[in-house]
Amino acid sequence: MDVIHLSAECYPVAKVGGLGDVVGALPKYLNQAGVNASVVLPYYDRKFVQENEFDEIFKSSATAAGKTFEYRVLREKTRKLGFELYLIYIHGLLDRKEIYCYPDEIKQFISYQISFIDWIYKTSIRPDIIHCHDHHTGLVPFLITNSQLYKDLAYIPTICTIHNGQYQGWLGWDKVSYLPSIDLSKAGLLDWNNCINSLAASVKCCWKFTTVSPNYLQELSVNSNGLEKLFTMEKKKGVGIINGIDVQVWNPETDPMITQNYAIGTADEGKYQNKKVLCEEFGISSTKPLVVFIGRLVGEKGAELLPAAIESCLKTFKGKVNFIVLGSGEPEIEIALKKLTAKHKKQYGVYIGYDEELSHRIYAGADFLMMPSRVEPCGLNQLYAVRYGTMPVVHSTGGLKDTVIDVDDDGYGITYDKLEVQELINAVGRALNIYKDASSMSDLRKKMMSLDFSWDRSAKEYIDLYKSLIIPHAV
Ligand code: ADP
Ligand code: GLC
Repeated sequence: MDVIHLSAECYPVAKVGGLGDVVGALPKYLNQAGVNASVVLPYYDRKFVQENEFDEIFKSSATAAGKTFEYRVLREKTRKLGFELYLIYIHGLLDRKEIYCYPDEIKQFISYQISFIDWIYKTSIRPDIIHCHDHHTGLVPFLITNSQLYKDLAYIPTICTIHNGQYQGWLGWDKVSYLPSIDLSKAGLLDWNNCINSLAASVKCCWKFTTVSPNYLQELSVNSNGLEKLFTMEKKKGVGIINGIDVQVWNPETDPMITQNYAIGTADEGKYQNKKVLCEEFGISSTKPLVVFIGRLVGEKGAELLPAAIESCLKTFKGKVNFIVLGSGEPEIEIALKKLTAKHKKQYGVYIGYDEELSHRIYAGADFLMMPSRVEPCGLNQLYAVRYGTMPVVHSTGGLKDTVIDVDDDGYGITYDKLEVQELINAVGRALNIYKDASSMSDLRKKMMSLDFSWDRSAKEYIDLYKSLIIPHAV
């Protein structure tokens, strides 16, 4: 079975958040299970691409945004990621350092999608499934069924996975000329609220859509940034499959990025050694329970609550808790978090920016990880945390509801239902009480570290879904 994944991110080539982690791991596990899964990404001028060799396997031209452009398809030579990796290169458009936020982002991702379709159309590549991730690839299901040029591909089943329904890839109807000529009677499939909406088009045109947790599938009908009606109508087409984690990359026993490796039996000492070095780096004491936050500093993550919550905790639990924050995002939140350092130097440290290695060291050295997410389609941080014996303290929403069970219900985390500063403070209070009892803390670490959130199980669910869609003659 041949499955092609299309995505804007794929770890370790290009990652901004969990989308990168998922697309860097799921195809590997699918290959291990016998599926020929590959990934086609836009080209980025980043470390992985600079340091590895690629063959140019195809070159042609296509038209987007009213202009004909040349594109090249490059294939990574050694298959070192555990799957075939292809990059689509377009001079001056898909050859940049960053993944998002260029003013001509719309052109970038439309050209990427059209080049992919053009490439497979002009060659004999006919996957059994095209698996699209998020809105950057959302026009593919529409284009292969409705563009006059590429409709020979219309029989190929498409799946779209929604990692985050908040971002939808909107473009005004004046930009319809960016697309290849389409059957205008089908234009309604692109439309949502008088805009071209890539995510909505994907949901309407794909054969099945998936969400990255079962609970998020339910939530989309009540909270999806304007698409609630669409998700209510299309619910039957949706399947919730919880994300897994790459247990080879995220393994405290072998992780080369952390200070000291540890296993279940050595977790207490191992974590302490990691905490010591981490706290020294931030200039805070390592004898206190350490509560951390890692993530994008945006409203979705409830990050605007952090400055007040951390400050109140430092006052309420004076001398009994320390905090470290790693993240970047909205400038006001960054500023507020930085300001706190002046007042609480010995109890609080912050790193504004993105640092993959530091994130591993924090998961390893922390005792508790806070996730006050307002919207969390799945969340991977809580899964990495438990893998490293760090207890998640979460607002019970989206995938956090599916993956974190409260200690009071015989689980391994701390959960709360209302997203308010006071709830966060109460949750930290509960964490500190648990921490006081060293032996139950140690038991909980062991319990967390023995949980299995690897991709094995979820990859099987994707395979079942692929099989249910494959056209018999194509198998
Ligand atoms: P989202 O994709 O919504 O940001 P996830 O929980 O699915 O949230 O995944 C976030 C991923 O990004 C995790 O791998 C997390 O460790 C990583 N991450 C987030 N912010 C940073 C940062 N500032 N530095 C390093 N890694 C980060
Ligand atoms: C998105 C979501 C996050 C999810 C990730 C990977 O970025 O915000 O909850 O874990 O995608 O699916």
